[in-house]
Amino acid sequence: MTVSQNFNDWMLSNQRAIEDALSSYLPSVQQVPARLHEAMRYTALDGGKRVRPLLVFAAGALFDVDAGLLTRAAAAVEMIHVYSLVHDDMPCMDDDALRRGKPTVHVKYDEATALLVGDALQAQAFTVLSEGNGDAVRTLAMIRLLAQAAGSAGMCGGQAIDLASVGKSLSLPELEQMHRLKTGALLRASVFLGALCGKMLEPGEEAALDAYANAIGLAFQVVDDILDVTADSSTLGKTAGKDAADNKPTYVSILGLDASRQMAEKLLEQAQSALLPFGSKAERLNQIAELIVHRNA
Ligand code: IPE
Ligand code: IPE
Ligand code: MG
Ligand code: MG
Ligand code: MG
Repeated sequence: MTVSQNFNDWMLSNQRAIEDALSSYLPSVQQVPARLHEAMRYTALDGGKRVRPLLVFAAGALFDVDAGLLTRAAAAVEMIHVYSLVHDDMPCMDDDALRRGKPTVHVKYDEATALLVGDALQAQAFTVLSEGNGDAVRTLAMIRLLAQAAGSAGMCGGQAIDLASVGKSLSLPELEQMHRLKTGALLRASVFLGALCGKMLEPGEEAALDAYANAIGLAFQVVDDILDVTADSSTLGKTAGKDAADNKPTYVSILGLDASRQMAEKLLEQAQSALLPFGSKAERLNQIAELIVHRNA
């Protein structure tokens, strides 16, 4: 079996595991209010690459982890991510009609429901994370980590900069900061959540994972910007060409396609060299870095 087949099998089995976990951690449609619960399940289940949960599982493979807590962490970060997508697509933000190959929540339901789906998914993420039987100190550290990554110093802050930047030409450092916050923060949190399911980290381990996470976090959004220009809507499952249509500053609009691709490759090298201290235990993290940079959707 080739390495990539082996990775593919690992990815598929973990994608199935996260699907099952999300399904069991989301309220059922039998519970009131049924329509809100139906909309939460509509948007969170059956779609997406599940890169953040995969990162949680891959980082967990570095250490001896509590498997139950690992699954909770993976589901929690995906819930935060899905909430961010639902709000990102709303008319007051990117005004997008297609997500994961399906109509967006405000299109399929209505705007108020989309707002509440996001709010409720965020709350559910922290409920799920806090209900594990794992070590209390590490669980608290994980809750804090996820909250910080989701808030104004992380994803929400990045989204605010994104919206304030429409029609502007940002400098490279400004663009990098926006990307690190809006996308990098949750990817970084995924890596650290997985690791924290094993142990509190030594400073050297923390520095190595930080370097890895920062590199893939930025690379992820650079590649998202590239794909917005190079891929089509049916491959992406979301509207292609939206960044230029909305006049958003992106790596492609500022650096051009070739330089953006080179930058993604450079970040891949940085990510993979950061993992060297972990040896073969970092195999899955290595493969995910490659997936992030070389994906076509
Ligand atoms: C899209 O994220 C939004 C960004 C942060 C760039 P993904 O590309 O991970 O979307 P899904 O989860 O696979 O749908
Ligand atoms: C969104 O960035 C990042 C989020 C926090 C959801 P984009 O607006 O580029 O994401 P897509 O392209 O709509 O998935
Ligand atoms: Mg956006
Ligand atoms: Mg968007
Ligand atoms: Mg995008």
